Amino acid sequence: MNNLKVVSLILNGRQVSSPVEPQESLLDFLRNRVGAVEVKCGCNQGDCGTCTVLFDGKAVKSCLVLALQAEGKEVRTIKGFSGDSLMERLQESFVTSGAIQCGFCTPGMLISSYAFLKSRPAPTREEIRNAISGNLCRCTGYKKIIDAVERVVRETRVEMPSVNDQEPPSPFSEGQEEAKGNYLLLGGG
Ligand code: FES
Ligand code: FES
Repeated sequence: MNNLKVVSLILNGRQVSSPVEPQESLLDFLRNRVGAVEVKCGCNQGDCGTCTVLFDGKAVKSCLVLALQAEGKEVRTIKGFSGDSLMERLQESFVTSGAIQCGFCTPGMLISSYAFLKSRPAPTREEIRNAISGNLCRCTGYKKIIDAVERVVRETRVEMPSVNDQEPPSPFSEGQEEAKGNYLLLGGG
């Protein structure tokens, strides 16, 4: 008996459709049905995180999601971040921090880090460590990966002045130049 059902979803901004078996995973759908082989398969049982994709904005292990559950959803693989400044920073930082060796874990690491920083832009090092704990890397020993994410956090902090660094709003409206001058002479408040 033919149990195939058609699944349609938005993959990296483009609609894709394919018949799937009821038990087929999203990972199999992506790699085998629609050619998204940039999504890597490591353990195929939820342990390694290499198959991580962004699924309606959340990082998920695609081997643990049924393709049928992805009907109508937005899925982003590592190829779907062109022009995204946060992802570009992460990628640059992974390279400059030496956080990539064989690269097999890297797409999943990047997507998990990206989703985490979107929800928590200024985490501690410990929080970064926890956030990527579902992604295994057999090469780097994790330190450089955590360094890479932390560097993005640090650089983003420098670019976004804290509330205390910003000039207080002026109490003067246009045309009150003299009063404003006196105010500044007295130290601005
Ligand atoms: S392949 Fe999905 S977690 Fe390992
Ligand atoms: S860089 Fe090789 S598994 Fe992480």
